[in-house]
Amino acid sequence: MIYLKTEEEIELLRHSNDLLGRTLAEVAKVIRPGVTTADLDKVAYEFICDNGGKPSCLGYEGFPATLCTSVNEQVVHGIPSNKVVLKDGDIVSIDTVVELGGMHADSAYTFPVGEVAEETLQLMRTTKQALYLGIEQAITGRRLGDIGFAIQNHCEKNGYSVVREFVGHGIGRDMHEDPEVCNYGRRGNGLVLKSGMVLAIEPMICLGRRQVILEEDGWTARTIDRKPAAHYEHSVCVRNGKAEILSTFDYIQQVLGDRFI
Ligand code: MF3
Ligand code: CO
Repeated sequence: MIYLKTEEEIELLRHSNDLLGRTLAEVAKVIRPGVTTADLDKVAYEFICDNGGKPSCLGYEGFPATLCTSVNEQVVHGIPSNKVVLKDGDIVSIDTVVELGGMHADSAYTFPVGEVAEETLQLMRTTKQALYLGIEQAITGRRLGDIGFAIQNHCEKNGYSVVREFVGHGIGRDMHEDPEVCNYGRRGNGLVLKSGMVLAIEPMICLGRRQVILEEDGWTARTIDRKPAAHYEHSVCVRNGKAEILSTFDYIQQVLGDRFI
């Protein structure tokens, strides 16, 4: 069932997404070599709660934390741990969902830790570009396949591969709503997009092969070839003519300054 959002609901979503954007920026402030992913999780948990929000991931199907923290070859759903110490040259994908005013907001960002190899930075840039190319297709009358195609085409053209096992989704009063939003597809195929649909678009892109496996913890997905993967995500409202991006990387940009890519 796809729920088209009212203008009132979209206004609430702007607020939950703003809190989410500010939360990711708080995390960005403390990312550096030597910090643990559990430290990052604590920052996010406290910031969300202090600002009247709820961490939607915590307890979701048993997930034990506020953030998903996925390092290097980990693609998504990494579990924060005081044993995972970030080191110079790592990348860490931070993905989280915040509920405020009854509305969930979902966004993810892959951060460099210290000095990162140019090859990996290029993967990150391309993944972020692919996210925005997908978002450009999130307009009334286009189809889900247009979003998937735009993402897949850009990434594969640049020699990267697209994860198939995890996809984007509708979002609103529930964290995961219909439809599924694949990061691959064919132009002109799939569901026709309507104004008021709110979609979490989230390309997960690999430097090497696209195959992933779950680690022993039952959550963390990593590439089988152990090459790095990047993940950027926005919550987006489908509109006539131009999609409205509800989540924001602006606060992250303010924190990272010239390290923002
Ligand atoms: N953004 C992630 C997703 O859409 C959030 C997962 S929360 C978790 O799947 F609890 F499942 F980890
Ligand atoms: Co999501």
